[in-house]
Amino acid sequence: METVLSGIRSTGHLHLGNYFGAIRNFVKMQHQHHCYFFIADYHSLTTHPTPSDLHQNVRQVLVEYLAAGIDPEAATLYIQSDVPEVTELFLLLNMNAYKGELERCTSFKEKIRRQPDNVNAGLLTYPVLMAADILIHRATKVPVGKDQEQHLEMARTFANRFNRLYKTGYFPQPFAYNFDSELLKIPGLDGSTKMGKSEGEGNAIFLADDPATIRKKVMRATTDAGPAVAGQPMTQPIENLFNLMRVVSSEDMLQHFLQAYEDTSIRYGDMKKQLAEDIIAFTTPLREKIADIGKDNNYLGRVARMGAEKARESAAKTLGDVREIIGFKSFY
Ligand code: TRP
Repeated sequence: METVLSGIRSTGHLHLGNYFGAIRNFVKMQHQHHCYFFIADYHSLTTHPTPSDLHQNVRQVLVEYLAAGIDPEAATLYIQSDVPEVTELFLLLNMNAYKGELERCTSFKEKIRRQPDNVNAGLLTYPVLMAADILIHRATKVPVGKDQEQHLEMARTFANRFNRLYKTGYFPQPFAYNFDSELLKIPGLDGSTKMGKSEGEGNAIFLADDPATIRKKVMRATTDAGPAVAGQPMTQPIENLFNLMRVVSSEDMLQHFLQAYEDTSIRYGDMKKQLAEDIIAFTTPLREKIADIGKDNNYLGRVARMGAEKARESAAKTLGDVREIIGFKSFY
């Protein structure tokens, strides 16, 4: 059994791409490994949310992860700011994180380009906080996307540096966890190959979208200008529609439209109508669960408390060891 950990951004709703890309795998992993999933609300302060946004976003992410099947008994599902041990480890790791390496980090450069009026120290030390998240549970596997690989490499650097400095093997090196063949890439509705929240309005189908919204988004999805031409390879937008069908529609339905594409009788309007209904059928149970769990403050409170307790137990153990290794000794 490995210790697997993943941090979840506390912004925005989950979309089908998140569901098929990561969450479905989290749900499977939670029974096979020792899993920690947390909502990274300290990290979200780097962009200065308002107090109500901060809480509302964390709440929504918690609700949607539970609805999507994260089992708070099997995994440790917690909110980062409920585990103050993380911030102490962050402080300790900061002493051995160098300004130069933090400034060279790609995501830092990208963020100062995007928010030049808010280049706060939290942005610079973002990778150190992320390393603290991982090392606090001595996790060895971290399921992250490509955009987080450099951060993970920095976490390994900080772990190794700590080990070298204090002549210990205390921190294991965390590596990216690849979902191998299970990974399904969900295309966007705007003809792009990736469904993403930041890709633009109408690109993503959210798990919480109601049927009318789903129909509207799918009917507006990009298709080719002209009709299908026999023998021509599919264009990206059309391939995207078929790829969406592959995950939500029945095999018969998929074959029906593939056949219609082959013999050029296909009408994309019909295909999109069907696709919308299949997406609605797929997301409806999730949407209903999101609504139910979202009403249940008691349940959310119990989940958050249980997560905090489990996470703090593991975190306190690590922090105690680390303080001892560094040389802190109590006078009383
Ligand atoms: N930086 C990650 C993201 O933007 C979120 C995150 C914070 C994280 N801490 C983490 C991911 C620790 C994995 C492990 O998606």
